[in-house]
Amino acid sequence: QNPYDCLKQNLRFSQDSFIFFKKKIGVLPFFHKIKDDFYQEVSMEPGFIEGIPKAELHLHIEGSLEPELMFALAERNRVDLPYNSVEELRQAYQFTNLQSFLDIYYAGARVLLVEQDFYDLTWAYLTRMQEQNVKHVEIFFDPQTHTERGVAFSTVIEGIDSALKDARREYGISSYLILCFLRHLSEDDAFKTLEEALPFREKIIGVGLDSSEVGHPPEKFQRVFQRASEEGFRRVAHAGEEGPPEYIIGALDLLGVERIDHGVQCEKDPELLRRLAESRMPLTVCPLSNTRLCVFEKMKDHNLKRLLDAGLCVTVNSDDPAYFGGYMNENLTAVQQGLNLSKEDLVELVKNGFRASFLPKTAIESRVQAVDEYASKNP
Ligand code: ADE
Ligand code: ZN
Repeated sequence: QNPYDCLKQNLRFSQDSFIFFKKKIGVLPFFHKIKDDFYQEVSMEPGFIEGIPKAELHLHIEGSLEPELMFALAERNRVDLPYNSVEELRQAYQFTNLQSFLDIYYAGARVLLVEQDFYDLTWAYLTRMQEQNVKHVEIFFDPQTHTERGVAFSTVIEGIDSALKDARREYGISSYLILCFLRHLSEDDAFKTLEEALPFREKIIGVGLDSSEVGHPPEKFQRVFQRASEEGFRRVAHAGEEGPPEYIIGALDLLGVERIDHGVQCEKDPELLRRLAESRMPLTVCPLSNTRLCVFEKMKDHNLKRLLDAGLCVTVNSDDPAYFGGYMNENLTAVQQGLNLSKEDLVELVKNGFRASFLPKTAIESRVQAVDEYASKNP
């Protein structure tokens, strides 16, 4: 696939959806025929998605840095940004693949310098989650992005952790923190980062693996994941976002992960697909991320519904919402519309979010029950 076709498609999609929303005002609930497909659109009353109690399991805290906050922190910390305005920065968010995004994402993180910055970033995300009825979050952070620039590990984690504590108290949002190793850096660097994390052991539930996937297979981090496991960390890894199904198999067999982040390339290997379905290995899928990074050209092409129908434990998440155009509700709305999902599909996706979480069993049961109660009150 030519990445520029995808880029054009993304731009066109934004225009089309604007016109689509304009047309829809006042005609909901609706049965609507899409001209070129002739299929019956599912009726979905406004507010159904917004009101469901939800969990988010795949969110990079650095990816929730909205342009407005980036500019405010740049000014507060006297960091130069290569853009003159928030609008100009947003204009630069036209990605052709994962790497084209990561380059901008790491550059944006340069404004985060002191504990208060990490607190403000995390608090802003959690405030949005409260507004979106998100009840539980498992957040990734990339310490190496900051320690490489001379920011202490303790600065990063203390800032994030105090916001998580405040949100538990003020919003009732439960949360866990997952430390991600950057896969484009060395195994040695990952070991060093794991050592730095040990004094903060009780603030971190698990380790993950992110950044540039292709060319950095899971085996590169087998020993560091083994060590993390001995320290009692839970394990997850990005695999099969752009990389081949073999990377998913490697994450399962060599890293011993309990969830696969993304995993959408599993469809290319029918045996792996069966294995994932039979084991109910959760996939944390990020629909808007996948279309923005040209993994799928359009939402209509996304394989989320096929994976769900094949019996996989699929969850919906936002990945880097400040860069990809939406948080939890926007992702759920985009897949509902793009793939014409039923209410039952949505309810299953949201329940999977809790089932695949690292919450204790009893907490999972009560939250799944709350989703069922919501669904039965909003049939
Ligand atoms: N870091 C932040 N977002 C990422 C993504 N979608 N894939 C890999 N690494 C990431
Ligand atoms: Zn991710």
